[in-house]
Amino acid sequence: MEPSRLLAAVFIAGMAVVGCVQAVTFEVKEANSTCIKADFSALFSITYSTSSSKTTVQVRLPDTATVDARSSSCGTGGSSPSLVAVFGRGHALGLTFSTNGSLYSVANLTLQYNLSDTLIFPGANSSNVVTDLSSSVGIWAGINTTYRCVSPTTFRAELSNVTFSDMRLEAYMPGNELSPTESVCAADKTGPTAPPTTATPTTKPPAPTPPGMPDRGSYSVNKNGTICLLAQMGLQLNISYVSRSQNKTIQDLVNVAPNQTVTSGSCDANRATLVLTQEPATTLSFTFTLNSTSNKYHLSGIVLTANWSDMATPFSARNLSLNYLQSSVGYSYMCNAEQTLVVESTFSVNTFKLQVQPFGINTTQFATAEECQIDQDQMLIPIIVGAALAGLVLIVLIAYLIGRKRSHAGYQTM
Ligand SMILES: *[C@@H]1O[C@H](CO)[C@@H](O)[C@H](O)[C@H]1NC(C)=O
Ligand SMILES: *[C@@H]1O[C@H](CO)[C@@H](O)[C@H](O)[C@H]1NC(C)=O
Ligand SMILES: *[C@@H]1O[C@H](CO)[C@@H](O)[C@H](O)[C@H]1NC(C)=O
Ligand SMILES: *[C@@H]1O[C@H](CO)[C@@H](O)[C@H](O)[C@H]1NC(C)=O
Ligand SMILES: *[C@@H]1O[C@H](CO)[C@@H](O)[C@H](O)[C@H]1NC(C)=O
Ligand SMILES: *[C@@H]1O[C@H](CO)[C@@H](O)[C@H](O)[C@H]1NC(C)=O
Ligand SMILES: *[C@@H]1O[C@H](CO)[C@@H](O)[C@H](O)[C@H]1NC(C)=O
Ligand SMILES: *[C@@H]1O[C@H](CO)[C@@H](O)[C@H](O)[C@H]1NC(C)=O
Ligand SMILES: *[C@@H]1O[C@H](CO)[C@@H](O)[C@H](O)[C@H]1NC(C)=O
Ligand SMILES: *[C@@H]1O[C@H](CO)[C@@H](O)[C@H](O)[C@H]1NC(C)=O
Ligand SMILES: *[C@@H]1O[C@H](CO)[C@@H](O)[C@H](O)[C@H]1NC(C)=O
Ligand SMILES: *[C@@H]1O[C@H](CO)[C@@H](O)[C@H](O)[C@H]1NC(C)=O
Repeated sequence: MEPSRLLAAVFIAGMAVVGCVQAVTFEVKEANSTCIKADFSALFSITYSTSSSKTTVQVRLPDTATVDARSSSCGTGGSSPSLVAVFGRGHALGLTFSTNGSLYSVANLTLQYNLSDTLIFPGANSSNVVTDLSSSVGIWAGINTTYRCVSPTTFRAELSNVTFSDMRLEAYMPGNELSPTESVCAADKTGPTAPPTTATPTTKPPAPTPPGMPDRGSYSVNKNGTICLLAQMGLQLNISYVSRSQNKTIQDLVNVAPNQTVTSGSCDANRATLVLTQEPATTLSFTFTLNSTSNKYHLSGIVLTANWSDMATPFSARNLSLNYLQSSVGYSYMCNAEQTLVVESTFSVNTFKLQVQPFGINTTQFATAEECQIDQDQMLIPIIVGAALAGLVLIVLIAYLIGRKRSHAGYQTM
């Protein structure tokens, strides 16, 4: 028995904000005193090999992650203090600290992931546990201060990228609570949306702002090295689900963020599918079908699966007999106006500034567009208004001429 080494590890799941990022709190303790405390959310972008190609997946550090007491340490035995958070089926995130007496820093950032986890790494050609290390991490702060970085910051390793946000941490702690003095990272100082530096360590910025227009994303699917499906669009999900925090069904509008979306898909002669994945928890797919008799195509299927932190149960909606976005082979389909694609009573997709071409792509660009009826109607409006104005001018002119003739005549009779 080792009485000096009583290592306790505690984790507190951060408050899950409705439909939004969750931060997780980790604490490494030894002999009743806390040496490392950290509070952050993390997103991992990992590239792995499948039998045919390389794929990139995005994985969020879940709020069920816990401190691994066996591999975390306060560094009393001469080793470096480290925080190791484990999650899922054998995945781990490790932060190792070092200090020179006046500053402390994250010396190594380690991401370990288990390719046998087919939920996260479907089709991986290996079942290894991979360890990816980044040793030039720019996280440092003065001793007895809390490092704070609300802005997302990305660190690159060989096969993965780790993006931290909403981060507060301290190592070599003088007490059991985060020091009130903060060392603010460069991104928070220069960022236009930097929150005030007086923020207390435990408060989280409020998040429930209704989304504006979604960003327009450019997506493409390759087959055999050439592009077989092209799409540009802004996407907004309109989804009704049972909220865990509110204990009732709520309707949520969520924008798809193109820069956090991984694209995949497939193309056959009569069928093309675009799959958009945002983190492990949201997957949206569009299937287009070609009728080779009529040489027309349409959007025939939409499937959404989502498992957000606030959902009481995982959400899924599918409709494979839709008939949207019809156009002809050799043309792209375009609709600048907002369109609502109803999938099920609980789910619809709003599209903005959409242009797609799922078949007959010869180059890397869209073919001539067939435009949707709403756009054509909207183009008619200025024509109608113009015609009406011209008519009005004509009537006024005629009225004036008649009036002039009358008053002329009046003069002559005088
Ligand atoms: C830890 O704290 C408990 C209660 O505060 C106390 O009884 C115990 O002696 C402490 N252990 C050590 C090693 O300081
Ligand atoms: C990796 O995942 C597989 C399947 O989920 C599991 O059997 C195995 O124990 C995991 N490996 C580790 C190191 O946790
Ligand atoms: C610790 O490192 C910083 C930055 O490299 C340096 O400015 C400082 O003087 C060092 N402190 C000590 C005690 O070596
Ligand atoms: C960081 O990782 C490198 C390479 O594995 C290792 O040599 C070094 O000792 C590690 N540093 C710390 C502080 O653990
Ligand atoms: C997996 O595929 C990559 C390339 O696609 C290859 O380099 C690697 O050796 C393969 N690994 C296994 C275990 O087959
Ligand atoms: C990591 O980021 C770099 C630069 O942004 C990017 O080129 C690279 O593809 C990313 N790697 C992964 C696995 O996402
Ligand atoms: C940090 O705080 C502890 C306890 O308050 C104090 O003993 C130590 O000198 C401080 N270190 C620095 C570098 O300020
Ligand atoms: C593309 O696919 C065709 C038939 O499906 C095949 O004959 C050809 O070799 C493939 N080209 C490449 C570059 O893989
Ligand atoms: C949720 O609401 C239902 C009825 O509306 C109620 O029976 C249940 O106790 C509530 N659950 C919680 C955790 O508040
Ligand atoms: C994604 O794009 C949005 C809006 O353009 C931007 O605010 C955000 O910082 C970007 N996020 C990343 C991780 O690039
Ligand atoms: C294809 O189009 C033709 C002509 O419009 C129609 O008769 C036929 O039913 C369509 N086929 C399918 C599978 O929808
Ligand atoms: C694409 O190529 C086919 C034959 O290779 C041709 O018939 C068709 O007109 C081309 N389409 C476009 C948009 O260039």
